[in-house]
Amino acid sequence: MVFDLIKKARSYRSFDESVVIDENQLKSFVDGARYSSSAINLQPLRYKLVYEKNEVEAVLSNTKWGGMLPDLKLPPDGHHPTSLIIVCKDKTVKNISYSDIDLGIAAESIMLQAVEKGYGGCFIAAFSKNEISQMFSFDETIEPVLIIALGKPDETVVIKEIGKNESTKYYRTDDNHHVVPKIKLSDILL
Ligand SMILES: Cc1cc2nc3c(=O)[nH]c(=O)nc-3n(C[C@H](O)[C@H](O)[C@H](O)COP(=O)(O)O)c2cc1C
Repeated sequence: MVFDLIKKARSYRSFDESVVIDENQLKSFVDGARYSSSAINLQPLRYKLVYEKNEVEAVLSNTKWGGMLPDLKLPPDGHHPTSLIIVCKDKTVKNISYSDIDLGIAAESIMLQAVEKGYGGCFIAAFSKNEISQMFSFDETIEPVLIIALGKPDETVVIKEIGKNESTKYYRTDDNHHVVPKIKLSDILL
């Protein structure tokens, strides 16, 4: 059920490094994203697959995880994601004013496919674009906009139903469960 996949598609920030997602699997996730809707059908998104350990680590060193949990080192040492998909905008495509909407649709398409295969991940927007562009020699027409970190999650994430006026800040319990508050249905329907 798609509904269950969406509920399972939480942000995970700790992974079992013994489980590697290979290049072909990553390609098939992007192939799925390729069929997603695109405003004016312009398809301005491009994808860099990163799966060699040294490259994954180099990218990760330019990312920020769990900004609301500043006392934690995330992902923890020895629990890093094993692959990354860097989603980029091709700025030569004209009229990319809706490209952020395309980005969200494509990114979730990738995440849901990964979750269906038993993996999980985290969207990372907090990263150094210049460093990443230099690392992969992207020219000025290619702008990296989102990193999708993927792997086999090895942490527990639970959802807490909240009212719309309660804090949406995520937190960790004493037994290290990650809690994600989600505003209840009746409070988001207008
Ligand atoms: C566009 C976008 C960018 C995000 N960037 C980051 C990020 O840079 N670092 C991070 O740790 N989490 C990032 N997240 C994950 C959010 O913190 C997460 O979605 C939120 O806490 C809710 O948790 P959930 O995904 O399990 O519902 C991002 C999520 C989205 C949708």
